[in-house]
This record gives sequence, structure tokens and C-alpha cells, in this order.
Amino acid sequence: MRIAVISGSPKGEMSVTLQYVRFLEEAFPGHTFSVVHAGRDIRSIERQEEAWERLLATVAESDGVLWATPVYVMLVPAQLKRFIELIGERNAADAFFGKYAASLTTSIHYFDHTAHDYLHGICDDLDMRYVGSCSAHMEDLRKEAFQEQLVLFFSDFLEAIAEQRPVQRAYPPLPAPSSPCSPATPPAAVDTRGKRVVILHDGEPGSGLAAMVGGLAACYGGSARVADIRDAGMKGGCLGCCRCALENTCVYDDGYRAFWEEYIVPADILVMAGTVRDRFLSAAWKQFFDRSFSNGHVPAFKGKQVAYLVDGPLGHLATLREVLTGLAVMEGANLAGIVTGEPGGDVAAALHALAERSVRLSERGYVAPVTFPAVAGHKVFRDEIWGGMRAFFKADDRYYRQHGLYDFPTRDYGKRIGVRATSLAMAIPSVRRDVVKNMPAYMIQPLEKAIASSRVLAERKAGR
Ligand SMILES: Cc1cc2nc3c(=O)[nH]c(=O)nc-3n(C[C@H](O)[C@H](O)[C@H](O)COP(=O)(O)O)c2cc1C
Repeated sequence: MRIAVISGSPKGEMSVTLQYVRFLEEAFPGHTFSVVHAGRDIRSIERQEEAWERLLATVAESDGVLWATPVYVMLVPAQLKRFIELIGERNAADAFFGKYAASLTTSIHYFDHTAHDYLHGICDDLDMRYVGSCSAHMEDLRKEAFQEQLVLFFSDFLEAIAEQRPVQRAYPPLPAPSSPCSPATPPAAVDTRGKRVVILHDGEPGSGLAAMVGGLAACYGGSARVADIRDAGMKGGCLGCCRCALENTCVYDDGYRAFWEEYIVPADILVMAGTVRDRFLSAAWKQFFDRSFSNGHVPAFKGKQVAYLVDGPLGHLATLREVLTGLAVMEGANLAGIVTGEPGGDVAAALHALAERSVRLSERGYVAPVTFPAVAGHKVFRDEIWGGMRAFFKADDRYYRQHGLYDFPTRDYGKRIGVRATSLAMAIPSVRRDVVKNMPAYMIQPLEKAIASSRVLAERKAGR
């Protein structure tokens, strides 16, 4: 069988993910693997017709396509995102049509599912036959138990091709693009009350996105600072070199850091606006997100109100919504809202409501309690940083120590003693009977103190 491997890592042969492919090559000597370095060679792929044609031929001649990529900022690297955009822009879907496909990623399992969901959706859009995914932790290959599973994963992929197994589409096709929205002038500008509002976008003049950005800026009474992320002067996408780990300093000497300091750092309200390209925002936005990796795992939007404007069918893109939400809350912000330009909604009213809400929440300092992704995400980072990464990610380690983020339950000695004492008491039959009988009462008992003081707290917050 001929397998075309589309490698997403900018590190090329030095990619961790590619070592997993090399393992498969060794394990399956009867099959040929042709690697397309989409992540490493994206510049030449964009510029050189010959490079593009060569890689398309590799895909077209293959029996199956294996997307082998690291997870970068909850998705694939910007370089691979750009490659996927090129398939659409250059009408090259024919080379992928009907091919069996699977995805293999390495990561630390932080939003790896969204990367796989994205690739699955892309395969469905290309009319490929997506068989399945394998999400490896970047160190998994050292373990024999994982190696066995990897072999099983790949065997299943090969068998699916050999048997021409039927595969159902998981993600319905996206609706055709609607005509660009043109929000009407807002009824009255919102008083920003000294809050610093920044709107970042990558909208072309005259586009639906530009209209939304203009509409929102007007809602803020013209006091919002509006900037195009392409003016950050990024020389390229994140190289994945991790040289930023020690002091959170990127190897690129370009305008990204200054842009970040100029717009993102001082913002109380940060709005990010983008157009849907395939199933995510543009590769330019993805590059902007990837480059923020040099901030380390420090919550970069802490205490801010974050909002998004999305021009495109967000209602059909649950994964995009999950990533945008995850980006805001994982960085410590409150998600003030997402406004889309989808047909059927009153965009002007939604923009005005967003402006009003973002100012109100910013004034009150509201940051919504987080849900599972952010709770789980914190624990993944905490354990990974403490468990090994801190040897290199020095700035992260310092931040985690200073801000009490190494909050392992094992450090709460009072609680540990309490748990031990309760667990010993539970060995006494009468205590055990009482606890079983009164379990609901014991569960709410510790909350009663809070309820007793609630009125005082509410009055204090309301300034009464
Ligand atoms: C810019 C950047 C962003 C990353 N984002 C994530 C992420 O969102 N989730 C995750 O689990 N790992 C993330 N990682 C870790 C990589 O996925 C992991 O190190 C991977 O094995 C690198 O593979 P490669 O050597 O093939 O590029 C990120 C690494 C970099 C450099």
C-alpha cells in the first residue's frame, strides 16, 4: 500500500510526530510511506508551482492519506492550516477525493480532540473516507503498551483501505457563503467609561468582516482601537523550536511582540474578528495564535473581557466555537460573547448588545466560573509543567509557583487530615449508618455559612 503522509510540523524531519511515522515505517515494511512536509515547506509550496504539483501527485497516487501533525494551540499548526486552505483556493480537491484517511497527532493531550475533529471535518469536506484517529502524548512512543496500540491503529487503517470499508460522513457540508452582512448604524454609542477597547481583525476592506468590525467600533463610539493582525509584521509561523521556554522570548525578531504589547496587554476589552476559512478562522489568525506560544502557559488575557466576531457559518462549526471559547477562558478571560454574521440574526443589535455587555462586565470585574475544558486544561498544564516541562519552561515554573497554580490536592494538609479522620470514622458502624442516612444533609451543611452571609455580600457588590 502507498501511504501519503502529510506532515504538519514545521520541524520537518526533527518533528516528534514524524518519529511515530518512522516507527510505523519500520513496523510495516511491506508498505511505502511518502512524506509531504506541508508544515516545513509551506513557503515553497505556496510559491513554487512545481512543489505543489509534486505533492499533489504524491497524494493522488496514494492508497491512503495519513495526516501526521502536532497539535498547536488546540488545532493543527498554522502552516498546515495554510496548506489546507491552498487545497480549496487552488481547486485541488480532486487529488484527495475518495482517499482513505486517518490522523495521527502528538501533543500533551490539551485540546487534542479539537485538532482531530477539525481534520475529520476537512476530510469530510474533501470527500475522503476518514477511518479514525490516534492521539499520542508526545512521549508515548517510549511505552510498549502504546506501541502496540499504534500498530493496531495503523493495521485497522490499512485493512479499511484493503477491504474498501464503507465510511460515513460525520460532519455535514457547510452552507454556501451568504452575502456579506452590513450592520445598520447602531442606535446610540455605548459609553466605554474609560475601558480600553481593542478590536483585532484580518478583514479585507469591503468584506462582511470589515463591516462587522466597523459596526462594532461605532458601537463603542469610536473609542475602540482597531488593528489588522497582518500589521504585526510576523515574519513567519511558530517554528515549534521551544527556545522560548526558558524566558518566554521568541527567536523571531519581528513585530509580533511589540504588537502584542501595544494592543493586547493594555486592553480591558479585547475583540478578535475573523472570517471562516474552511472550518476555522484564517491561517493568519492561526499563526497569530501559534506565535502566542512564546508567552508560555501563563494566562495572557487574565481579567479581560474577550469577544469574537465571526463572519461565517459558526452555527455549523461546533469545534471552532469550542476552540474560540477555550482560548478565551484558558487565558483567564471572561468570554463576553460571540457575534456572527450568519443570516437570520440582527447583527447590528447583537453588536450593540456585545459592546454594552462587555463594558458592563468589565466595570464589574466579572469573570465567569470556568467549566470542564478550563478546569481540565489547568490540571493538564499543572501536571505537565510540574512533572517535567519545568526543567526547560523556567518562566512557566516561576509563574506557577508565584500564583499558587501548583494546587495539587496533596498540598492541602488540613483537608488530608480531615479526609483521613472521616475515613477512619466511617469504619464505626453507627457513624456509617448515620452518614448513609443523612448524606444529602452532610453535603449541604458546609454551604450554610455562605448562604447566611449572602445578603451582606450582594449589598456590598451592589454598593448599597
Ligand atoms: C506553538 C505550540 C503550540 C502547542 N499547542 C499545544 C496544544 O494546544 N495542545 C497540546 O497538547 N500540545 C501543544 N503543543 C505541544 C506539541 O503538540 C508537542 O510538543 C508535539 O509533540 C510537537 O510535535 P512536533 O515535534 O511534531 O512538532 C504545542 C507546541 C507548540 C510549539
